Amino acid sequence: MMLRSREVKGSHFSYPVELHEDFQGLRERLTSLPKVSSIIIITNRKIAGIYEKYIVKELRDSAIPFHILYTKEGEKNKHIDRVKKIYHELIKLDIDRKAVLVAFGGGVVGDFVGFIAATYQRGVRFVQVPTSLLASVDSSVGGKVAVNLDMGKNMVGAFHQPEFVFAPIFTLSTLPKKEWSCGLAEITKHAFLDAGPLLTLLEKAKRSDFQPKSSALLDSIDESVRIKSLVVGQDERETGLRAILNLGHTTGHAIESLTKYKKYSHGEAVSIGIMTALLLSRELLHFPEASLQRAIRVMKALELPLQIKENPEDILKHMFHDKKREGNQLKFVLLEDFGKPKFGITVGRDQILKTLLLQKGMKELG
Ligand code: NAD
Ligand code: GLY
Repeated sequence: MMLRSREVKGSHFSYPVELHEDFQGLRERLTSLPKVSSIIIITNRKIAGIYEKYIVKELRDSAIPFHILYTKEGEKNKHIDRVKKIYHELIKLDIDRKAVLVAFGGGVVGDFVGFIAATYQRGVRFVQVPTSLLASVDSSVGGKVAVNLDMGKNMVGAFHQPEFVFAPIFTLSTLPKKEWSCGLAEITKHAFLDAGPLLTLLEKAKRSDFQPKSSALLDSIDESVRIKSLVVGQDERETGLRAILNLGHTTGHAIESLTKYKKYSHGEAVSIGIMTALLLSRELLHFPEASLQRAIRVMKALELPLQIKENPEDILKHMFHDKKREGNQLKFVLLEDFGKPKFGITVGRDQILKTLLLQKGMKELG
């Protein structure tokens, strides 16, 4: 049963993002795409272990042949070196340009399969079937696809929009707790960027309200998709506005790399980074104190971490390792208030350090 639907519209693309109870309706959706020669589902072994039987049941009577290919799980396998194996498997199966690839999994699978779809035989169509909260609210929407190099994350990629996004919500019932934080942090980011109904919803919510099929969850995914769509619809290729979607990511990435991607999930690090951005916003853009207190209440109720545990000097070093640094300054996305983001704000090293030290000392964030 379809639970919610949104259209993502840009100057040369338009596609629906649909939230479904389960996989029912996926076959009809896929076979109604024009002139499909075959359907290639690409997933990882973990997702396959839990959900392959359901997707096979849905597709087994399909008039169009389908195949399932497997990738290794985890960010380190969203790697250029893993791409060739899938190209070879597609060629062995005689897959032509009328095939549709299905990215079935979290954001890692989505970015990886999207990259293969953007490049195999100069580009084939693909569909996103996200199974993590982060993929449902963020990575499946907007067409950024990429793989990693040894030299860095997402270093090779493309903008390649899916034909549609079909999110089978019941799969979230097996999502690990840390992965919920990832999605909730990105939802919070969207809420602060927009200041509309999503922020109101989050203000009334607590973490335990977010359950598969709960209206809090469905409405917040739907609203997140609306907010992200508005941005990518105007600036698909991140020539400007799309940069606002990086709120919290400058500090977040530095904390992730400082702690070697082990201590925090991406969303937890972004959550701490959002707090840094809000403290900088208060200092530099007069972000109101009352809004800061609202943000702290919302994020605490969602059990997102806000407190810096690491040494601020070390975080700073990792920030300035990032390729986007400009001498002694970095560019941040900051807020004048909720719903009033500003991107490309240059902040000096001393100001960043002062803010990180302030954040570390704020007992109310713990
Ligand atoms: P992920 O894909 O690694 O999934 C997290 C973990 O949860 C994995 O172990 C995965 O196998 C497991 N999992 C996923 N769904 C599950 C389910 N239903 N039940 C049980 N386990 C499940 O991580 P993610 O947070 O979904 O995505 C992170 C990736 O997304 C990163 O590579 C990031 O760069 C990318 N990303 C891309 C964009 C974009 O716009 N393209 C935006 C944000 C993030
Ligand atoms: N997640 C950031 C973007 O899609 O641009």
